[in-house]
Amino acid sequence: MPDTLVTKPLLRVLSGERSPIPPVWLMRQAGRYLPEYRAIRSKTESFLDLCFNPQLAAEVTLQPIRRFGFDAAILFSDILVVPYALGQRVSFEEGNGPKLDAIDSPSALHRLRREIDHAKLVPVYETIGRVKQELPSGIALLGFCGAPWTVATYMIAGGGSVDQSPARQFAYRYPDAFAELIETLIASSASYLIRQFEAGVDAVQVFDTWAGVLPPDEFRKWCIEPCARIVAAVRRSVPDAKIIGFPRGAGTKLVPYVESVPVNAVGLDWMIELGFAREQVQSARPVQGNLDPLALLAGGAALDRSIDAILEAFAAGPFIFNLGHGVLPETPLAHVERMIARVRGAASRS
Ligand code: CP3
Repeated sequence: MPDTLVTKPLLRVLSGERSPIPPVWLMRQAGRYLPEYRAIRSKTESFLDLCFNPQLAAEVTLQPIRRFGFDAAILFSDILVVPYALGQRVSFEEGNGPKLDAIDSPSALHRLRREIDHAKLVPVYETIGRVKQELPSGIALLGFCGAPWTVATYMIAGGGSVDQSPARQFAYRYPDAFAELIETLIASSASYLIRQFEAGVDAVQVFDTWAGVLPPDEFRKWCIEPCARIVAAVRRSVPDAKIIGFPRGAGTKLVPYVESVPVNAVGLDWMIELGFAREQVQSARPVQGNLDPLALLAGGAALDRSIDAILEAFAAGPFIFNLGHGVLPETPLAHVERMIARVRGAASRS
C-alpha cells in the first residue's frame, strides 16, 4: 500500500514519520455531541440497531469528517459487539449504559461460544466497505476493538462498574477460568481485527480503557500479554498492519507496555505527565493524545493552554493530536472547531 502511505498523514505518522502539521482525530468523535448524530440516533430503536445498520453506521462514521475535516474516521460500532458475537446478551439502556448477562461464576463461561460468530458482524464489515467508498483519499479509516481486559470487565460485571471490582475479584478467585476468558477474547479480537483489515480499514486501535486499575503483575498478565498476542496474531495475517494501543491510566506502566507491545503508536490519557511521556514513550514510538476531554468541554484560555502544552511536548516528533479519552456529549461544537484551528495553525507557524 505505498500510495496510501504517501497520501494519508495519519498513516505516515504510524510509520514513524513526523508530520509538520500533526494529524488530528478524536476518540468518540461520532456521537451525542453532534446534532446530526442525535437526529439519526433518535430514528433507531436501539444503539445496537444503529451499529448493525451499515447505511446509517456509515453515515454516522462520516458525519464528523464532513463537519470538522478530521484526518481519520473511526468506524461507528462498539467494543461490546465482540461479547455479543460470542453469544452474550448485550443491550444499551437509555442513560444507563451497556447491560450484559453477567458472568458471575466460572460455570457461566460455558454459555459463551468458543469462537466469535462472524455472521453476526457482517454488517460491521459492510459498513467499512461503504465508508471506504465515500472517504476522501487523504483521510484514514480506523477500525477498533476493546482489549481483552476491558471487554472482560463488562462481561463479568454485566455492565459498567466502579473500579472494575467484579472482574478484578473474578481474576483473583478463579485465575484459570479468567485466563480462559482472556484466551477466547484474544483469539476473537484478533480475528475481528483481521476481518476489519480485509474489509478495508487502514489501521486499528485497541482500547484498553480500564488498564489503569491493574496492579503491575496483573497489568503484565491481563493487559501487556494479551495485547502483544493480538498484535502478533493480526500481523501473521496482515503483515504490515498498523495498530494503535491505548492502555488508559497505565502511568509508569507505559514503560513495560512499550517494551513488550509492538504497536505502531501509543495513545496517551490526559493524566500522564507530558515530559515523562515524551522521554519514556515517544522516544520509542509515535504517540497520540492527550487533551483532557473536560478542557475541550470547558473551552477558553484553559483549552488553549492545554493544546499549546501538548504541542510543545510532542509536535517535534511523530505525533497524532487527540483527546486523552472520548469526547463528552456536552462538548460545544465551537470548542472542537477552535481546537482543530489551533492545532493546525500553531503547527504551521512553527
Ligand atoms: O469513537 C467513535 O466515534 C466510534 C464509535 C465508538 C463508540 N464506542 C460509540 C458509542 C467507539 C470507538 C466506542 C468504544 C467503546 N465503547 C469503549 C472504549 C473507549 C471508551 O470510551 O472508553 C467502551 C468502554 C465502550 C462501551 C460503551 N459503549 C459504554 C460504557 C457506553 C455507555 C456510555 C456512553 O457513552 O453512552 C457505550 C455506548 C456508546 N458507544 C455510545 C456511542 C456513540 C452512546 C450510545 C448512544 O448514542 O445511544
